[in-house]
Amino acid sequence: MIDIKHLTFTYADGTRALNDVSIRFPQEHIFAIMGSSGSGKTTLLNCMARFLEVDRGTIFFRGIDISDIAEMEFRERLGVVFQQLNLFPHMNVLENLMLAPMRVQNRSVKEARQAAMEMLDRLGIADLADHYPAQMSGGQAQRAAIARGLMLRPEAMLLDEPTSALDAETTHDFALWLKELQSDTSFIIVTHDLPFARQTAHQGVFMRDGQVINAGRISEILEQLS
Ligand SMILES: Nc1ncnc2c1ncn2[C@@H]1O[C@H](COP(=O)(O)OP(=O)(O)O)[C@@H](O)[C@H]1O
Ligand SMILES: [Mg+2]
Repeated sequence: MIDIKHLTFTYADGTRALNDVSIRFPQEHIFAIMGSSGSGKTTLLNCMARFLEVDRGTIFFRGIDISDIAEMEFRERLGVVFQQLNLFPHMNVLENLMLAPMRVQNRSVKEARQAAMEMLDRLGIADLADHYPAQMSGGQAQRAAIARGLMLRPEAMLLDEPTSALDAETTHDFALWLKELQSDTSFIIVTHDLPFARQTAHQGVFMRDGQVINAGRISEILEQLS
């Protein structure tokens, strides 16, 4: 579904964070981008989300160069949840979910509220509707941020280090929850948490120093590392 070809990215200070990266993401899967800190995972995610402009290479989304897709359409089709989650602190979860339908799709308050409630129900977190971000645990906030990202029904969603604020037990529950959602949306998970990657994803890549050093089934990638 997403096809990355020969991507190179250099920061303004000369740091080459991505060096000739090529990855083919299959459809309808949870895919993991693994690697230790500094290997280029977040940079890659930011290039895929068009927040950084690449030096060289092309990213195709269903065969189309992403730089040719209109901004609004692109944001609707590809969701992103950053490590900092980007929930608005002054709005409760329901209000956070209502924003995109109202602002992007011009839906009425009533319609947006209904769509937001349906999403929370579907994801099994209706009890969080009136919680404010500061009132939630890391695991609850992570689910709420993903629910918000799913409001525009993206075809794919990028998640950067979704377990970084979660303890082992919450990570386990979160992994199971994510697996239940994958029939509707493809998830591309950036993570240094290898047990989490193994639990959620079928396939992935392992990065080191801005390059993909291994690609394929997670179990095989992890076997070759040990
Ligand atoms: N804004 C920046 N300016 C310069 N170098 C950066 C910047 N952000 C990240 N880097 C460098 O780029 C490399 C890849 O970083 P990053 O993509 O954040 O890796 P990861 O997400 O795998 O930890 C690292 O060497 C990092 O220090
Ligand atoms: Mg990172």
